[in-house]
Amino acid sequence: MLKGRHLIEPGDFEIDEIESIMQLADKIIANPEDYSMVCKGKLLASLFYEPSTRTRFSFEAAMLRLGGQLIGFDDPNTSSVSKGESLGDTIKTIGCYADIAVIRHPREGTAKLVSQYADEMPIINAGDGGHEHPTQTLTDILTIRNYKGGCNNHVVGVCGDLLFGRTIHSLVKTLNRYENIRFVFISPKELKMPEHILTYLSPDCYTETNNLDEVIGDLDILYMSRVQRERFVNEEEYLRLKNYYILDKKKMKKAKQDMIVMHPLPRVNEIAQEVDDDSRAVYFKQAKMGMYVRMALIAKLLGVEDKND
Ligand code: CP
Repeated sequence: MLKGRHLIEPGDFEIDEIESIMQLADKIIANPEDYSMVCKGKLLASLFYEPSTRTRFSFEAAMLRLGGQLIGFDDPNTSSVSKGESLGDTIKTIGCYADIAVIRHPREGTAKLVSQYADEMPIINAGDGGHEHPTQTLTDILTIRNYKGGCNNHVVGVCGDLLFGRTIHSLVKTLNRYENIRFVFISPKELKMPEHILTYLSPDCYTETNNLDEVIGDLDILYMSRVQRERFVNEEEYLRLKNYYILDKKKMKKAKQDMIVMHPLPRVNEIAQEVDDDSRAVYFKQAKMGMYVRMALIAKLLGVEDKND
């Protein structure tokens, strides 16, 4: 039962609970009109303390497509935070008005912190610093189900900024809960997967390399990521590493015919635009999956998943 729960990190939900969200997302994709009014009279608060395109717009589109309404901000300077109000007081206040809240914040642990101030309002973490991004993981799981037939038995290459990539941290911990997943972590040594994520994994289920060319032919899924400029303290270091990997047509020739290329987006230079037309490139389809899976999540957390009467 997901009604009334918070989603701070993917581990908050059991695999069968994640599966129930996927099944509802599949039903919504098949018959969106059946769900167009299930959130009538409900309000979602959209609190973005950090820039976003996909997460914010897909959550807002999701709520509107479920027949609900929105309050919120994407510039915290327009709220009383700019007068020094604490996050706890902000959330307690928003809980007086909204039924569910989505929060993105640059500081790790913020979503967890504010959930302690939300008595009856489910809190969804839309990304907290370099920590976790659980709804991107739900998006990724739905995408893998749809384009690879399921989440078991894959060799998954994860390439780019594995140090700061919160989408990657959440995805790796979640995919590790499925059967027979082998990871190939592809990064420069400066951006390796942090120890606190590796400790979740059995040493025989992953390998590490900095050479994408050498391993691309082994992969069923290639998950690309951008170098996270906003998390670097040293701009020169960012400039040195930002173009370390560029996936192009030449590299794609070495990949399996049924490999899929995923990316949480935004992309900077790490996938050349010439790859977009390759049928294996699913990253914009993935962005669309994000809206459907967030529709399913909102409906589940509000306990309104039954079809319109
Ligand atoms: N994938 C993702 O989180 O994108 P945004 O930063 O645009 O929300």
